[in-house]
Amino acid sequence: MISKDFVSSMFSIAGRVAIVTGATGALGGAIAAGYGLQGAKVVLTGRSVEKLRKMVETLKKQQVECVWIDGDPAIEADVQKIVHYAVNTFGRVDILAACHGFNAPKSIVDQSLEEWKKIMDADCTSVYLLAKYVAEQMIAQGGGGKMVITSSARSKMGMAGYTGYCTAKGGVDLMVQSLACDLTAKHGINVNSINPTVFRSDLTEWMFDPESAVYQNFLKRLPIGRLGEPEDFVGLATFLASDASNFLTGGNYDATGGYWAC
Ligand SMILES: NC(=O)c1ccc[n+]([C@@H]2O[C@H](COP(=O)([O-])OP(=O)(O)OC[C@H]3O[C@@H](n4cnc5c(N)ncnc54)[C@H](OP(=O)(O)O)[C@@H]3O)[C@@H](O)[C@H]2O)c1
Repeated sequence: MISKDFVSSMFSIAGRVAIVTGATGALGGAIAAGYGLQGAKVVLTGRSVEKLRKMVETLKKQQVECVWIDGDPAIEADVQKIVHYAVNTFGRVDILAACHGFNAPKSIVDQSLEEWKKIMDADCTSVYLLAKYVAEQMIAQGGGGKMVITSSARSKMGMAGYTGYCTAKGGVDLMVQSLACDLTAKHGINVNSINPTVFRSDLTEWMFDPESAVYQNFLKRLPIGRLGEPEDFVGLATFLASDASNFLTGGNYDATGGYWAC
């Protein structure tokens, strides 16, 4: 029998400790703020110290309990440092929201091996490292946890110039599925991905001119009728971090505004 207590608190993440990577970016910033304003304790991380400092300052003015620590998610020692800092500050880690990412669109014939490796490290190896050390902590503390990993609509669709990015995000989707097999039944750690289509960020702002051919072409395949905004994903990221999604794991969740549907 379902209880009123469960129903009234199932979407709540208040009091939970979340690490948000790429918190200096469009999506990470929205999710860090969204989690914090719902009462989660947030550890914001990224490589840009000044941006982190400013974000934390702004969030603290809104009574969000939060701290920042810089680090590169593709460097093992940095990931260990981030997890240790979260535990030293807030005592545990309940949620990992991985929101960092990188792309360098280029035809394969023009792309160097170094650049391919950089994309793989930034988008795929980084998720492996974060999942590894956050899982280690979640297992040690007990009580399970939630991992919400940002993938992309491009994880399941090719695109010219995106050989590295599509491959890395496809790897992320399969990593999420494998991590669910590894971690959920045994340790109560749910692992899912959010797969967005284009949303507004510094890098995609140029696509948002309604008069442009790029925008118009996108709209032809977007049942939702517009491109995304970072805030559009806060609801799904909250759901996947809350008890309401306790039965969901290993999912690559369509956040494409219907792009995958047509
Ligand atoms: N924007 C879109 O249309 C779109 C669509 C689908 C999926 N996504 C995915 O959504 C996530 C967030 O994207 P966003 O649009 O919010 O991007 P963003 O505004 O550029 O933010 C991404 C953050 O990732 C960090 N980052 C950049 N390069 C990195 C690297 N080489 N290694 C590690 N971290 C790096 C940066 O923080 P620091 O410099 O502080 O480290 C940056 O603030 C990414 O995983 C992206 O692939 C985006």
